[in-house]
Amino acid sequence: MIVAIDGHAGSGKSTLGRRLARETGMLYIDTGAMYRAVGLYLTDRTLPAEPELEELLARMDLRMEVEADQFRILLDGADVTERLRGREVGQTASRVASMGAVRRRLTALVRSLRPLGDLVVDGRDIGTVVFPDADLKVFLTASAEERARRRHLDAAGGRAETMQKTQQEIEQRDRADSSRSLAPLARAADAVTLDTTRLTQEEAFRRLVELVHERAGRSRGPT
Ligand code: DC
Repeated sequence: MIVAIDGHAGSGKSTLGRRLARETGMLYIDTGAMYRAVGLYLTDRTLPAEPELEELLARMDLRMEVEADQFRILLDGADVTERLRGREVGQTASRVASMGAVRRRLTALVRSLRPLGDLVVDGRDIGTVVFPDADLKVFLTASAEERARRRHLDAAGGRAETMQKTQQEIEQRDRADSSRSLAPLARAADAVTLDTTRLTQEEAFRRLVELVHERAGRSRGPT
């Protein structure tokens, strides 16, 4: 079974996706981390035009270690997973995600994980482009204000910026991800929208599990 979870930055895709994988025995795939890894790879390099960029990406040694809800990324043999979380890497990721050469390489890489088993795949274009035949497509969203509030709570005082600034960044990233011409963030026509603005994490998770069970009942799937 493939569960595609797409949605806005900070909408809770990874928290819910990871937990879903843990509780159902599926594998969690964090495609955002893969875009972040390419962002990190390209950060200190001068960006060439398309044909050379293809070559540069072909030389990139990007590997994934997938185990239950753990998704780790190795770049040139080094585990960079923890380094990928920062805001700056996220912004770079959003920029490189608009490049055709990057999307082609990563789309192929994500698809190559399919034989691993039942997957929960978190991203922006999973239900629309990467796995259009996913068994369940969820489009996760929440108001920008609520997403900024959650980010702040997560950072637990470790943040110097105001909540307003965080909200502006989130809105800017939504705009960039939704307006790019290649595989923009979009809700697939057959996706179920889950708006968590007024839901607790527990309520959102229960709803997600209900959806998975409904689909699993209709096709083959976990339990
Ligand atoms: O989910 P995230 O914040 O880790 O993603 C980082 C960036 O990567 C996001 O701004 C857009 C891009 N991305 C994408 O274009 N397609 C995906 N399937 C996943 C992420």
